[in-house]
Amino acid sequence: MTFFKWSPELDTGITVIDNQHQRIIEYINALDTAVKEKDSSIVAEVVEQLIDYTVTHFTFEEELMAQYGYPYLEAHRKVHEAFTARIQNYQRRLHAGEDVSRQLLSDLRIWLTNHIKRDDKDYISVCMQVDAGWLTRTLNRFFGT
Ligand SMILES: [Fe+2]
Repeated sequence: MTFFKWSPELDTGITVIDNQHQRIIEYINALDTAVKEKDSSIVAEVVEQLIDYTVTHFTFEEELMAQYGYPYLEAHRKVHEAFTARIQNYQRRLHAGEDVSRQLLSDLRIWLTNHIKRDDKDYISVCMQVDAGWLTRTLNRFFGT
């Protein structure tokens, strides 16, 4: 059974962001599989990839918010930083041999669900309301297309 299923309530209405969120969920599910198989080297590898990808995704979101001039960018950035620090802390504990993998999984699922539903939907609706062109411009800048 899939540990973390995508659901329509996580839909932000912006495909590029939804795709990135889905990718994070795929990493979380890969982690769940590795934990069930009790393969600690794969667990460590997936946690590393999950952190890398999530940090890139956060940078992308922050760039979108900065482009628009979203007034709560700093607060949102702090939430991202706190989350990254929290996952890195789990990573350290795993490396030290502590079995915190189930706790990490449950934390990831709860945190991501709440964050998308509350914080991400907030900046997206604020930015879209004011200027629907902000996304295209930022994508061009970010990816240079
Ligand atoms: Fe976010």
